[in-house]
Amino acid sequence: MKIVRGPSSLQLGAKIAELMHTKPVTVAFKNFPDGESYIRLEVSVKNEEVAIVQTTSPPQQDTKIVQLALLSDAAKRDGAKKVRAVVPYLAYARQDRVFLKGEALSAQTIARMLQSSGVDSLITVNVHQEKVLSGFPFQARSVSAINLLADYLKRNGFGGAFALAPDSGAMHIAEEAQNVLRGGCGYLEKQRDRVTGQTSTESKKLDVQGKTVVIFDDIISTGGTIVSATKIVKALGAGNVHVACVHGLFVGDAEKRMLDAGVQEIVATDTVPSKFSKISVAPLIASELSR
Ligand code: R5P
Repeated sequence: MKIVRGPSSLQLGAKIAELMHTKPVTVAFKNFPDGESYIRLEVSVKNEEVAIVQTTSPPQQDTKIVQLALLSDAAKRDGAKKVRAVVPYLAYARQDRVFLKGEALSAQTIARMLQSSGVDSLITVNVHQEKVLSGFPFQARSVSAINLLADYLKRNGFGGAFALAPDSGAMHIAEEAQNVLRGGCGYLEKQRDRVTGQTSTESKKLDVQGKTVVIFDDIISTGGTIVSATKIVKALGAGNVHVACVHGLFVGDAEKRMLDAGVQEIVATDTVPSKFSKISVAPLIASELSR
């Protein structure tokens, strides 16, 4: 299998290729003066199965999706047998249904665009809701990085910490983490106003008095969800609060907001590269590609 390093996942692509004992296919890319993307595969992939590693996180997620489509088209035109899109953070996945009349079903729109560019299957990491993948026009699979995050935390002295999900949708994540940390788990209730996008989180009884709490979520975007959850567990007497997420988007002043709320440490994976990417999903993806 040939590993193609997309422009948004150069480091992760290199790590995956190394784990798979193959030299990554290099890609020449640039932006034209008007902002359009140009890409060219620098190595032939004729008759090969190809995995294109390209995350689609902000900023410029739309450009990253177009680059992925161009890479897939280029691979197929060069004679690739199969194209697997490895999209560690899958943009638009949260619009997994039509919430308000007149909206697009964005996740499926993106998947159909990718299919028409030659993508035969897709691998992502902790997609927001797995059921979205069943509507994709090709085989798509989400692998979970929660064990990697929890193992990292355990190695760093967090065994016995309480794993908290900031909303019920993330409870399966907290449960997965609790299987490693063994300090109990629970969740809060979060509501979202579908028009304004504003969220509100309700307090509830949780046994966190004096405990170390790790809040686990799939995505941190503005940090608002984490700020609300942190304030609630602090008010319930939590000893100290740490945060672990798979996809750290950290939009705007998310980091400052979380630290100001009392978060002591933030841990994320490299699906979205940042200074908090302390855990690599490369072994997870390499093993999935080798299956
Ligand atoms: C949505 O339910 C997700 O799991 C995250 O909780 C959400 O995307 C986080 O967004 P923000 O950091 O802006 O609150």
